[in-house]
Amino acid sequence: MAIIGGTWVVFHVLKLAWRCWCGLREFVLSEVWQVDLRTYGQWAVVTGATYGIGKAYACELARRGLDIVLVSRSDDKLQTVAKEIEGQYGRKTRTIRVDFTDGPSIYPVVAEGLQGLEIGILVNNVGMTYSDSFACFLEVPNAEQKITQIVNCNMLSVPQMTRLVLPDMIKRGTGLIINISSEVAIRPQPLLSLYSATKIFVTYFSQGLHAEYKSKGITVQCVCPFMVSTNMTLNMKVNCFVKSSSAFAREALNTVGHSSYTSGCLSHALQVRGMAETVITCKLS
Ligand SMILES: NC(=O)c1ccc[n+]([C@@H]2O[C@H](COP(=O)([O-])OP(=O)(O)OC[C@H]3O[C@@H](n4cnc5c(N)ncnc54)[C@H](OP(=O)(O)O)[C@@H]3O)[C@@H](O)[C@H]2O)c1
Repeated sequence: MAIIGGTWVVFHVLKLAWRCWCGLREFVLSEVWQVDLRTYGQWAVVTGATYGIGKAYACELARRGLDIVLVSRSDDKLQTVAKEIEGQYGRKTRTIRVDFTDGPSIYPVVAEGLQGLEIGILVNNVGMTYSDSFACFLEVPNAEQKITQIVNCNMLSVPQMTRLVLPDMIKRGTGLIINISSEVAIRPQPLLSLYSATKIFVTYFSQGLHAEYKSKGITVQCVCPFMVSTNMTLNMKVNCFVKSSSAFAREALNTVGHSSYTSGCLSHALQVRGMAETVITCKLS
């Protein structure tokens, strides 16, 4: 009995120590122990790059020395962000104007825009919710149209964009694909049913892809943010729970090479851990 008890305690102490080490490496040591992102290739492609998390990733990647392809639906906004990046970071930019809700027809346009570029990093960021507030599935305005739009934008875009850049990455033996999922994908979310279902698709696709291609030098990282202050979250006030998009992108990019599935920043990781404990306690009580 004593041996079983002792083994159990040692096992859990070691498990806790391992988790602490992984957390320390992912969110604290990564501040100084960073992968040089330029080693993946010259260009980074970011979808949904004119605002919020996508724009923040684009700027941070440019700051770290990559040229940027911005993909979004509004030409004016694309030009503004492109000028900002060129002026502030001295990097080259290219813009591709497409609306991801349009579905399969846009990908030949994207493929043409990417032709001839050495794409080292793809950030599949674009995403939308179907309502400004929480709503039951049938209460979503214009449900028939919205369902197709959200599936095209949040789900279809991820494997389609991946298909365009992955073959060349494999040929060069290196590449990084970052897919932005969400913490709402951890469990089913009533009142956000379709949105959360699209995000678990992103998570599972990322994890499967990472397992399939890591031996070929490809890293697929799934990033699951909690609350980031953007248009999607009605630009809520930044505090210790809600990150600004720029702080989030900077911390999340530090985790590359340390984790293939991450909350992106310490604050969000701690909130997820706290929520998991609460759920376990509720289930037990
Ligand atoms: N914010 C959060 O708290 C949070 C948390 C978890 C996960 N996420 C995920 O993070 C990603 C980015 O979210 P965000 O909060 O940064 O969103 P956001 O503020 O709404 O920005 C979305 C970006 O995507 C572009 N975009 C939207 N729909 C598009 C379309 N149909 N075609 C082309 N471009 C389109 C927008 O361009 P326009 O300016 O033209 O609209 C904008 O540049 C999403 O996948 C979201 O699910 C966000």
